[in-house]
Amino acid sequence: MNDPRQRLIVALDLPSAVAAQKIVAAVGDSAFCYKVGMQLYTAEGPRVVRDLIASGRRVFLDLKYHDIPNTVASAVCEAARLGVSMVTVHASGGGKMLRAATEAAASVNPSLMVLAVTVLTSLTDNDLDKLGVHGRVQDQVLRLGALALANGCHGVVASAREASALRNEFEDNFAIVTPGVRPAGAAHGDQMRVVTPAEAIAAGATHIVVGRPITEAPDPAAEARAILAEISAVAA
Ligand code: C5P
Repeated sequence: MNDPRQRLIVALDLPSAVAAQKIVAAVGDSAFCYKVGMQLYTAEGPRVVRDLIASGRRVFLDLKYHDIPNTVASAVCEAARLGVSMVTVHASGGGKMLRAATEAAASVNPSLMVLAVTVLTSLTDNDLDKLGVHGRVQDQVLRLGALALANGCHGVVASAREASALRNEFEDNFAIVTPGVRPAGAAHGDQMRVVTPAEAIAAGATHIVVGRPITEAPDPAAEARAILAEISAVAA
């Protein structure tokens, strides 16, 4: 983890492969890990993933699988065959589903990281209550984190607000991937709570996912480098 680029994941939340390629070219050597999520994957399919990998980039395939164990395991096998480095499943799919996913990954590519999505950052305590989950978001994150780690997941996706609680509760040897990060000094727009890359890393995140601050920047490479510098300052 000495190279901060191992900790920065650029989210290609874009409508086409052409738009994605433009960003990847503009970022250049300033990042090598890209998130392909449901928008780009739905628009372009696995080709965009194969092309990124063929060009030497690492891919975080964020399709948040959530189905019966056999179906999720089969999808994870296909993701492993595509050559992605990280894949997401919903922890709320349950222990059997998580176990099936991690075993499927290991059977094709033991270094594929299976990450469990805990609680979506868009959900509040009140939303969870309406879903029949009583208590605080953080408690549910810790509960799902425990389930994920007990079933072989290599890490979790969680907000930086929960990262330190996860670090305190469990051992150190798992990844925490944190979205919703805004570089220091960046426009916050209408966001109420923003976490900087430095704060996310200090809270225990191993990886940060950054989308629009890089993809919509006039100079995406310069923006990525500024974020890398922030990561290095904390991780040093
Ligand atoms: O906001 P930004 O463009 O950096 O988002 C990058 C990724 O982080 C998105 O793909 C989204 O899935 C995720 N995200 C999130 N929670 C937020 C904001 C973004 O999970 N509050």
